Amino acid sequence: MRVLGIETSCDETAVAVVDRETVLANLIASQVDVHERFGGVVPELASRAHVEALTPLIDVALETAGCGFRDLDGVAVTVGPGLVGALLVGMAAAKSIALGTGAPLIGVNHLEGHILANAVEHGPELTPAVCLVVSGGHTMLVHMPEPLRYELLGQTVDDAAGEAFDKIARFLGLGFPGGPALDRLARDGDPNAIRFPRAMADSGDFDFSLSGLKTAVLRHVEAERQAGRDVDPADLAASFQEAIVDVQVAKTIDAARERRVETVLLGGGVVANTRLRERMEKAGAEAGLRVLFPSMDLCTDNGAMIAVAGAWRLLRGERTSHGVGADPSLELG
Ligand code: KG4
Ligand code: ZN
Repeated sequence: MRVLGIETSCDETAVAVVDRETVLANLIASQVDVHERFGGVVPELASRAHVEALTPLIDVALETAGCGFRDLDGVAVTVGPGLVGALLVGMAAAKSIALGTGAPLIGVNHLEGHILANAVEHGPELTPAVCLVVSGGHTMLVHMPEPLRYELLGQTVDDAAGEAFDKIARFLGLGFPGGPALDRLARDGDPNAIRFPRAMADSGDFDFSLSGLKTAVLRHVEAERQAGRDVDPADLAASFQEAIVDVQVAKTIDAARERRVETVLLGGGVVANTRLRERMEKAGAEAGLRVLFPSMDLCTDNGAMIAVAGAWRLLRGERTSHGVGADPSLELG
């Protein structure tokens, strides 16, 4: 089951070839330099950069995998959620290849890709599980009772975790994208230096709220400045990060207990966060849970996760009509 995976939902042009869960090629053309000076992703520029990068990237991916278009058993592509113009670039390419080769087309939900990225290194036995999906656009807890079935347990009522990381990083002058830089800075800080609020920690559900934390950070810095005191950026970063991680860890473990599953899957760009990985591993061990997360490269957007998700769906006989459209707010399940 050789599947080409194409991912263009945001600011990474990513292409992979997999044989079920085995990655034969996984390439990413990052657009960081395109968006950096704007401090965020500019949708029109993202679409244009995808157009330029995609075709050569597909060629190199096939060459790396040692196969041609004719060897493909399927073409998987992200159909949502994401930026509509960016999604359409990948979908046009995927449809053309599927049409030209006769290989089936399979549309993949980007969030499902983030969850199934775990199959690459941990194998296909992932369910039943509770999944924490934390990315630039999403923060949610999902129950996956069996492969490819999802039940939303809760999600953020305002900002996504990655968005919060990026905003505080920008405030600290760490550039774009801010998550990885804030993660690095936090390693030199004290996570208990400042006690920021743990929003919705005791809400009794699996929802999250992150916009209040952002405001609390800004207010704290303002108050300290007015009092003539310096704020240590590393302490600020570590304390902010700890407030996010605390709630995510607690709610994920609670959800696993409530659903009586033994496996916790983490997925999405924010799972590249050192502290989140560390704390989740520790909490999982204490609770007797199997906590799985992808290696760093497979946490942030990539083509392999889309190709694997596509392979799983194709193996079940699923196909997507060539008439499928991009869905910027596609939901999981
Ligand atoms: O999944 P992803 O690559 O793209 C989306 O689907 O949104 O996630 C990107 C998000 C960005 O907000 C980025 O700042 C964040 O993931 N991120 C991190 C880290 N690496 C990436 N956040 C915290 N710590 C990190 N190490
Ligand atoms: Zn993503």
